[in-house]
Amino acid sequence: MTTDTATQDSAAPAATKKPIDKAVCICKKVRTNEFLTKVKAHKAYTIEEAREVTGANTGCGACYEYAESLLAQVRAEVGIT
Ligand code: FES
Repeated sequence: MTTDTATQDSAAPAATKKPIDKAVCICKKVRTNEFLTKVKAHKAYTIEEAREVTGANTGCGACYEYAESLLAQVRAEVGIT
């Protein structure tokens, strides 16, 4: 007899503290971790600079607010207000 039913071991992720790597820009397929890594590596603290180094926010523009919010976090981390 096989009993492949009712196992609950795979659906719920473990309680980890890893940040969610959600999409920043759907048009250019840029995710949060990639965006932050490139912005920090290139010191691209403005949306114009971030567009150049990540490609994000160079399509429809719908991701502007989220990209700006990430940039604001990075600027705060490095002491730029
Ligand atoms: S979602 Fe980023 S430019 Fe369209």
